[in-house]
Amino acid sequence: MASPAPRPNYQVERGTADDLDAVMHVMDMSFGSQFGEAWTRSQCSGILPLAGITLVLARTAGDIIGFALARTVADEAELLLIAVAPDRHRSGIGSILLDDFISRAQASGVARVHLEVRDGNPAIAMYRRAGFAPVGRRRDYYRGQDGERFDALTFARDLPPKD
Ligand SMILES: CC(C)(COP(=O)(O)OP(=O)(O)OC[C@H]1O[C@@H](n2cnc3c(N)ncnc32)[C@H](O)[C@@H]1OP(=O)(O)O)[C@@H](O)C(=O)NCCC(=O)NCCS
Repeated sequence: MASPAPRPNYQVERGTADDLDAVMHVMDMSFGSQFGEAWTRSQCSGILPLAGITLVLARTAGDIIGFALARTVADEAELLLIAVAPDRHRSGIGSILLDDFISRAQASGVARVHLEVRDGNPAIAMYRRAGFAPVGRRRDYYRGQDGERFDALTFARDLPPKD
């Protein structure tokens, strides 16, 4: 009989500004600079102290291997960034961080979650699988390293109230 697949050994937990070095390391490794999707360190450090901002980390053996940054305003939550270290891609960590974002939003009474993503980003398959549907397009929203522009797609999902 085939042996069972190994279970991933990582934790998903809240992060703080103290984790910014590791978050930026994952950011720099995972986002291609040609698309202009990554945030700078000062953008991240500026937003972290603000009300409604949540940083969630995926860790293994103490190392941060993924993160999600989200903002909640009233009964809406936006996924601002999600990234996983490239050597861990396609092992389900991104989906777990996305599910965690949705669960936290639902638990805090959020009725609708949304996000924005570069048209053509493979993450779109992950968002669709999690129940997000396209709601709009922002032309030339992202600007890559060499000035090339890329459209952003906006996706949303309504959340039923939690029992
Ligand atoms: C998007 C990202 C977070 C996904 O993380 P991940 O841990 O690889 O995600 P999962 O393993 O849960 O994959 C979920 C699904 O997304 C889709 N997907 C993710 N990466 C893909 C790729 N490179 N090509 C095709 N499909 C992909 C697949 O449908 C995948 O499911 P499958 O592996 O069963 O086919 C990761 O690719 C990443 O860090 N990308 C760079 C940063 C980024 O673009 N973030 C999104 C915009 S903020």
